[in-house]
Amino acid sequence: MSTPAEHHVLVDGTGVRFSCTEGDTLLRAALRAGVGLSYECNSGACGSCRYELVDGEVRDRRPDAPGLSPRDRRRGRRLACQSEPLSDCVVRAGSLGEVTAYRPVTQTARLRAVRPLTHDMSEFVFTADEHAAFAPGQYAMLYFPDGRVERAYSMSNLGNRDREWKFVVKRTPDGQATSILFDKLEVGSEVVLDGPYGHAYLRPERNRDIVCVAGGSGLGAMISVVLGAAALPDAVDRTAHLFIGGRREEDVHIPEAVLVARRRLRALHVHTAVSEADGCDAQPPCGIPPFRGFVHEAVVRTLGESITGFTYYAAGPPAMTDALARALVVERGLPADHLYFDRFC
Ligand SMILES: Cc1cc2nc3c(=O)[nH]c(=O)nc-3n(C[C@H](O)[C@H](O)[C@H](O)COP(=O)(O)OP(=O)(O)OC[C@H]3O[C@@H](n4cnc5c(N)ncnc54)[C@H](O)[C@@H]3O)c2cc1C
Ligand code: FES
Repeated sequence: MSTPAEHHVLVDGTGVRFSCTEGDTLLRAALRAGVGLSYECNSGACGSCRYELVDGEVRDRRPDAPGLSPRDRRRGRRLACQSEPLSDCVVRAGSLGEVTAYRPVTQTARLRAVRPLTHDMSEFVFTADEHAAFAPGQYAMLYFPDGRVERAYSMSNLGNRDREWKFVVKRTPDGQATSILFDKLEVGSEVVLDGPYGHAYLRPERNRDIVCVAGGSGLGAMISVVLGAAALPDAVDRTAHLFIGGRREEDVHIPEAVLVARRRLRALHVHTAVSEADGCDAQPPCGIPPFRGFVHEAVVRTLGESITGFTYYAAGPPAMTDALARALVVERGLPADHLYFDRFC
């Protein structure tokens, strides 16, 4: 088998260079090389990875990606997460940002177990070939060869030597990837796993008191952050609030893993919020009654005056993370760098 070609990429005006294997995207190749191109969703939807191609040729994986507006297209902008270099390239990108200690790796993973959590949410457990190295709160790209479809899913466990990657996935009605995951993928089936990615990971050096906000499918990422805080050597000095939001009471699941984490922390307060029902029967382990309304409203109501005294992690649909950012940063003056999230767009 012939070795895939390597293309050299120069980031204009910075002197930063990296190489990209044919078939890989500009964004992923940069992150694999430790170059912090800006990004969020890795899926073509958020627009954070926009850049200009100064020289060279690229193939666009998703020409109709919603992350580019008609104006962006007129100006010749592209998405680094969807561009596959076909030659050496020179690109003009915004300022380079941070990269995590974990470089993304592509490997094969086998489905080992599926555990139903709610009527439309299950935990999927994979065993990968080599690594399960990631920070709490990060995500991976899962490629399903059967349907030739790739999507982002957040890990719900911690990095480990057992090569185990767990994901909490919510079924999307008629969704391409979730139909495969829920209806076709059998235990023992293989997928391609590429990761880790994402910025909304636990920063132990930040405030010891944290708030994790999970909207619907964002639960897995927030379980991981809580578990990460509980695994720190000074966990006993740390307090965490976990807010879990859903539309109806049947959507809300309080994971057992967080009950275990609770024993290691100074305190773990679990709050639930239900936006469309009269109430919620899911009994939080700390006895705090469920809130009726959106999960960001539950945060504001519950934390009151102390709201700016925490570092926040959030995961879920863009409407939820945007509403939370507005409530915390715009309306209550939380410094923007005290809130971490990757929008699930
Ligand atoms: C950073 C991040 C983390 C996420 N973590 C989780 C998680 O932990 N649990 C969970 O349940 N969901 C998570 N999601 C959402 C998940 O990636 C899927 O969007 C969701 O499962 C629906 O996929 P689907 O294919 O079933 O639905 P569909 O309706 O078929 O697809 C919807 C999504 O796929 C995107 N899409 C469409 N075509 C393409 C394409 N060619 N290439 C790439 N993307 C495409 C769309 O922008 C849309 O967001 C996450 C999303 C992101 C961005
Ligand atoms: S559009 Fe590329 S990272 Fe979101």
